[in-house]
Amino acid sequence: MPPLPRLTRGIACAIPYHSRLRGSRRGHAADAMQIALAPMEGLVDDVLRTLLTEIGGIDWCVAEFIRINQHLLPPASFYKLAPELKAGSKTPSGTPMRVQLLGSDTQCIADNAALACTLGAPVIDLNFGCPAKTVNQSRGGAVLLKEPELLHDIVRTVRRTIPPKIPVTAKMRLGFDNTDNALVCAQALADGGAASLVVHARTKTDGYQPPAYWEWIARIDDVVDVPVYANGEIWSVADWRRCRAISGVDDVMLGRGVIARPDLARQIAAVRDGRDIAPMGWAEVLPMVRRYWAMQCDKPLSAKYAPGMLKQWLVWVGRSYGEAQRLFVDVRTLTDCDRITERLAAEPEPASDAIAS
Ligand SMILES: Cc1cc2nc3c(=O)[nH]c(=O)nc-3n(C[C@H](O)[C@H](O)[C@H](O)COP(=O)(O)O)c2cc1C
Repeated sequence: MPPLPRLTRGIACAIPYHSRLRGSRRGHAADAMQIALAPMEGLVDDVLRTLLTEIGGIDWCVAEFIRINQHLLPPASFYKLAPELKAGSKTPSGTPMRVQLLGSDTQCIADNAALACTLGAPVIDLNFGCPAKTVNQSRGGAVLLKEPELLHDIVRTVRRTIPPKIPVTAKMRLGFDNTDNALVCAQALADGGAASLVVHARTKTDGYQPPAYWEWIARIDDVVDVPVYANGEIWSVADWRRCRAISGVDDVMLGRGVIARPDLARQIAAVRDGRDIAPMGWAEVLPMVRRYWAMQCDKPLSAKYAPGMLKQWLVWVGRSYGEAQRLFVDVRTLTDCDRITERLAAEPEPASDAIAS
């Protein structure tokens, strides 16, 4: 199978490689498409980032958003959500991690961004997509898409405040309750100095309901001169192919799809590179689930949080693996960590060729 050629539509593809923000970890062609792991608050913590980036295919990841109000946060707040900062801002397998900030107080975000840089953040990402009511009510996330000028000011101020060598990037939805400002917002972010944009191709009102409007990514890519990443509703290699065809962009960010199917990025990367690779079977996923549990148990306050984290991930993995659904049913009512450990240990060892359903 020959590798996929890089797409050639849109302004972004005409920009020389060196002026575009690319990752640095892969061994294949420098201008090959990038695959990013989405930030997911309360779901993709350092444990899941560690496990998912080990599998391969993910070029970079983003920590959960750090909310900025009116204060300079203590370093502990950054380390809590982005502990990789203490390890060169890379996951143990060497995948770069970016820090994401959310807020609307322009200078305060910039000052916190500068602090994050001193702690080792290699890229500062700004969140303009969070749909949570509490966040939007305090003027953060997707609600800012109603104010393109403020978007521009935030990015520009962060850009001017942090060291020039550290890129600022932005993640946006198509709008708050309509797409009227989608292009203006994207331009405001790019003009403000965003080195790349991730576009979650839905409005805040759309929430997480399918479809994702990938055609809007093409429209945005046409009006900005920075790389645009397609995001939203990519659950399979087939979805990725359709998204690529409709959006016309190469770079992609995977969210729930890779949580449910942990090797999704590896599968997509294999198709991109013209390699054949078997989908990950339960025989590979079960050890991951056990390690996930052990790592969650090692975290502070694990008795309180680890069972919920495990159950949450099992629900997602259960979309792809019937065995995970069954495991979830068995642990659903368990709150004692030792009993959950026993149940995981009792799970029969799968045949090594058990493949995803
Ligand atoms: C539980 C959850 C938490 C999320 N947290 C964040 C976040 O911290 N920052 C952010 O920019 N997006 C966040 N998102 C949005 C995702 O990064 C992504 O844009 C969205 O899930 C669409 O991609 P998908 O359809 O591939 O999941 C979150 C989404 C979910 C479901």
